[in-house]
Amino acid sequence: MKGVILAGGTGSRLFPLTKVTNKHLLPVYDQPMIYYPLKLLLEAGISDILIVSGFEHAGDFLKLLGSGKEFGARFTYEIQDEAGGIAQALGLAEDFVDDSKFVTVLGDNVFEDFIGDDVAAFEDSDAKAMVFLKQVPDPHRFGVAHLDGDRVERIVEKPKSPKSDWAVTGLYFYSPNVFDVVRTLKPSGRGELEITDVNNWYIEKGTMIARKLEGFWSDAGTFESLFRATSLVHGVRMR
Ligand code: DAU
Repeated sequence: MKGVILAGGTGSRLFPLTKVTNKHLLPVYDQPMIYYPLKLLLEAGISDILIVSGFEHAGDFLKLLGSGKEFGARFTYEIQDEAGGIAQALGLAEDFVDDSKFVTVLGDNVFEDFIGDDVAAFEDSDAKAMVFLKQVPDPHRFGVAHLDGDRVERIVEKPKSPKSDWAVTGLYFYSPNVFDVVRTLKPSGRGELEITDVNNWYIEKGTMIARKLEGFWSDAGTFESLFRATSLVHGVRMR
């Protein structure tokens, strides 16, 4: 399967660190943030990868990552002109993905789990979408899964009073019909096309599956979470 890393957005929650560079180029311990989602894909055997970034620092992504040769991979680049939301950025992958199932990961997410087996299982399954859940102490910051056993009944984006502590992480497997779903979306209250609306579409159709992650997971888009991601990676390196 192909992979898509979404690294657009403004990084406003990390200002002034993001005044002169892009959030995904900042360090998480000893590597640039974007290396973590990149390595998640590479270790799963995914080497044909699209990187979606904003316009302003696109040249820096190219300088850092190049053609992909250094990583034994092939990189393609796409520009998201404005930070119109995760689902909008995903929509830009349509030509790249063509007509096969694919993996999308947010550029500010750090995962410990290996996903190679999930990739193979999803490719052979009838499921049209898959999400990955992790229990967190601060669910109000995320998409939150309402669960019935292991089945996701609904996802609520950043609820004030979360009904569970299962966050929907920034790793999503989709079928190519996701681009038709993106075309039906309307901007949310924060003016963005929401990935949670995409995922709820699949839940309503009964074609989404979910797995609970075992290893650590963190986003790195706020000072607190950037610090936590750095500490978690440091802990793993010191094992
Ligand atoms: O980290 C997981 C969470 O990510 C999920 O639980 C939420 O459901 C999902 O909405 C998202 O929440 P955030 O509000 O934390 O997303 P954020 O705006 O920080 O964007 C996360 C990444 O998505 C960012 O590092 C790059 C990409 N992105 C984001 C936007 C808004 C884009 O590529 N383009 C965009 O326009």
